Amino acid sequence: MSDASRLQRLRSLRDQAHGQTREKDQHARGRLTARERLELLLDPGSFRETDAFVTHRTSDFGLAERKVLTDGVVTGWGTIDGRLTYVFSQDFTVFGGSLGEAHAEKICKVMDMALKNGAPIVGLNDSGGARIQEGVVSLGAYADIFLRNTLASGVIPQISAIMGPCAGGAVYSPALTDFIFMVRNSSYMFVTGPDVVKTVTHEEVDFESLGGADVHASTSGVCHYVAPTEADCLYMIRLMLSYLPQNNMEDPPFVASSDDRLRTEEGLNRLIPDDTSKPYEMRDAIRLVVDNGAFFEIHEHYAPNIVVGFARLGGHSVGIVANQPGHLAGVLDINSSEKAARFVRFCDSFNLPIITFVDVPGFLPGTGQEHGGIIRHGAKLLYAYCEATVPKLTVITRKAYGGAYDVMSSKHIRGDLNFAWPSAELAVMGPEGAVNIIFRNELKEAKDPEARRAELVAEYRDKFANPYIAASRGYLDDVIEPSDTRPRLINGLEMLSNKRDANPAKKHGNIPL
Ligand code: HXC
Repeated sequence: MSDASRLQRLRSLRDQAHGQTREKDQHARGRLTARERLELLLDPGSFRETDAFVTHRTSDFGLAERKVLTDGVVTGWGTIDGRLTYVFSQDFTVFGGSLGEAHAEKICKVMDMALKNGAPIVGLNDSGGARIQEGVVSLGAYADIFLRNTLASGVIPQISAIMGPCAGGAVYSPALTDFIFMVRNSSYMFVTGPDVVKTVTHEEVDFESLGGADVHASTSGVCHYVAPTEADCLYMIRLMLSYLPQNNMEDPPFVASSDDRLRTEEGLNRLIPDDTSKPYEMRDAIRLVVDNGAFFEIHEHYAPNIVVGFARLGGHSVGIVANQPGHLAGVLDINSSEKAARFVRFCDSFNLPIITFVDVPGFLPGTGQEHGGIIRHGAKLLYAYCEATVPKLTVITRKAYGGAYDVMSSKHIRGDLNFAWPSAELAVMGPEGAVNIIFRNELKEAKDPEARRAELVAEYRDKFANPYIAASRGYLDDVIEPSDTRPRLINGLEMLSNKRDANPAKKHGNIPL
């Protein structure tokens, strides 16, 4: 065979692997192809493919005649903002992106490389789950991936994008990764699809209401970010990675900022309403403090009584956790505790300092919460903060009541720098509740109970509803002017930049799951 025909053969095989003939099927579904997605995700020209010539080895159900190069998944590596990133992108036009033995081997290969070489892996999922024709082999193949997801957890960032209808095993691998991105009206996640649901439970439900992006972003909490388009989804993944280190042995990247490190912000002095029961927008505080007001919020639509996301302070990447008085008064409940606990653990895994803004009236009372297990779910957040050894900086803006005071990165659970604004109120509970309990008998006997209650509430508020008792005991490191929050946090972060702290040696702890 001549050199020319050898090259011709290679080129023709590559063309087959690229599957241009199938592109139109995917476009007809209103979606990008597996390769188009990688082009948008990675820096131009940086993608290097591996295993393009792989095919399945099955002959059952007529598959021997249906071999497709790549076996339905494009794998390899490239760069994002110049930083190495491993990728796989499932091709729905090949057996519905379903996963069999060879398809899984390709994914496992790039996962192993990512772990060995300490770089993130991004999976673009578009798959009907286990390839039915391959039977138990495809179940085993999924388990091979689940094991790798778990072993890589906390070592390299793992990000999943759901780009089409994902079912069965195609949802459990993403569920083991750090963050899940979905595309509105185009991506779906379910363990079993609408047809199976109808057969088993007789429920009639469509793709969107069973497992659409909005359902998973707001009701189940499975999805961390909903994008309006595939292009936006892939751009946001690039942006998220800019806040993260490549692996758990690295610090997050420093990105010099044009925003003045010493910038004070008078608006913060006026943020807290005089009436302590009035809400305000905690995101305003966050945006006024962080570099250029840029806050990458995740899990925005789930448990909005707590806000979590990434930002930079003086160029340093940080994770932000903040009670949101604008929703349910910022109370801690089952969903918000879980949401924040997982985020705190992510930050601790990847060396991101945690900045906590506190305005919390306590845990949400009621049978719904108690019977739903607020005790064990709330304990997750407590546990996550207690075990975290990254720098922890806390700003109490207003209420820090009851157990929630302890939970929200208090000094007692290794908060490194704990600040309060003059509007802070640190107490076992709010003045009204406290007076009703400790003066119950006196109020019963009072001639004018309402007038006496008002007097006692005012007295309690004057005595306890301030930061100075806590500050006098050293539970707070300082009471600061709100306008100084940015320079004080940046100074604190740099003071803590060589922080060394560790937990006792153990196999692993037993977080109350
Ligand atoms: C083999 C599959 C497949 C699968 C889809 N296809 N899923 N082939 N194995 N799991 C094929 C279809 O036969 C079809 O092939 C093509 O992909 C496109 O599928 P459509 O059904 O036409 O597409 P759509 O209407 O968009 O529906 C997509 C879907 C649906 C919702 C994903 O295909 C579906 O419900 N698939 C089965 C899902 C499922 O039950 N998976 C197994 C889960 S068990 P042709 O040749 O006609 O184009 C599992 C266990 C893992 O994953 C362990 C977990 C812990």
